[in-house]
Amino acid sequence: MKGIILAGGSATRLYPITLAVSKQMLPVYDKPMIYYPLSTLMMAGIREVLIISTPVHLPAFESLLGDGSRFGMKFEYKIQEKPVGLADAFILGEEFIGDDNVALILGDNMIYGSRVERVLKAASNLKKGGIIFGYQVADPTSYGVVEIDKTGKALSIEEKPKNPKSHFAVPGIYFYDNDVVKIAKSIKPSERGELEITDVNKRYMENGTLQVIPLGSGYAWFDTGSADRLSDASDYVKAIELRQGTQIACLEEIAYKNEWISKEDLLKEAKKYKKTEYGKYLEKVANQNYKDYKEIYESDLFNNITNISFK
Ligand code: TTP
Repeated sequence: MKGIILAGGSATRLYPITLAVSKQMLPVYDKPMIYYPLSTLMMAGIREVLIISTPVHLPAFESLLGDGSRFGMKFEYKIQEKPVGLADAFILGEEFIGDDNVALILGDNMIYGSRVERVLKAASNLKKGGIIFGYQVADPTSYGVVEIDKTGKALSIEEKPKNPKSHFAVPGIYFYDNDVVKIAKSIKPSERGELEITDVNKRYMENGTLQVIPLGSGYAWFDTGSADRLSDASDYVKAIELRQGTQIACLEEIAYKNEWISKEDLLKEAKKYKKTEYGKYLEKVANQNYKDYKEIYESDLFNNITNISFK
């Protein structure tokens, strides 16, 4: 499976911060925002990623992330001339996607939780159809909203409904089979003039192949598109990192644990950041026997405990 990060858009809700700077470059506590969605794709086991942004902002992403080799990955870049909608990602990405399945994540979305890696890996094994998530929110009216049956099959899906049929908002991470390219090319712009991802999802739903995974209370989902949400996400990352002494969205750590880079590679990266806590953390990760932890986290005991909170 391949991955796409959509990191363009206008970011008008963050003006004046984003008048001259890309939203997805803004800090979420101690890292650029794009690290978070990129880490999500990496946790899903996706090694080939296309980063899409505006003509003005794309060069900055290239200079931040490079060709991906320092994470044992492969990155490609593509300009989106105008923000004509989320489904445009599959049209712009057609050549990159080739014959593969593809995951799309929005550049301002962040998902975190103890089982998130497992859920993402399962989703990336998709054989046919589409997989989206449902996250319970107090006020779903400003999101895509999905209604599901007991088996997780989508019953209805609506974009920013005035009278939502459920409390499940659809986070900005989607997994699809290769048909998504054909579907994206066939949909028409909505009243607001965008190629809507909701219309793509509706097509899968009508075919009976849209699976929804509800994310319960053990997960945090942030869409960092407004000043309050951005600040909430920063506070959240800070609280977890300082309390646990771990890092969220540490790309080098995930690459190392996925066995995409060696211990030597990791130590080389750590040296670059030696004046920061980030550098010290990378060194600690390289020098600890993480495989012991991995065994504990992958044991049945841990599975059973976490199953209880997975509703
Ligand atoms: P939005 O938050 O819906 O739009 P925006 O980022 O332009 O912000 P605002 O509403 O404040 O003007 O976009 C969600 C994500 O998708 C965000 O990371 C930007 C990205 N995006 C694109 O890259 N291209 C597009 O055509 C659209 C619509 C969004």
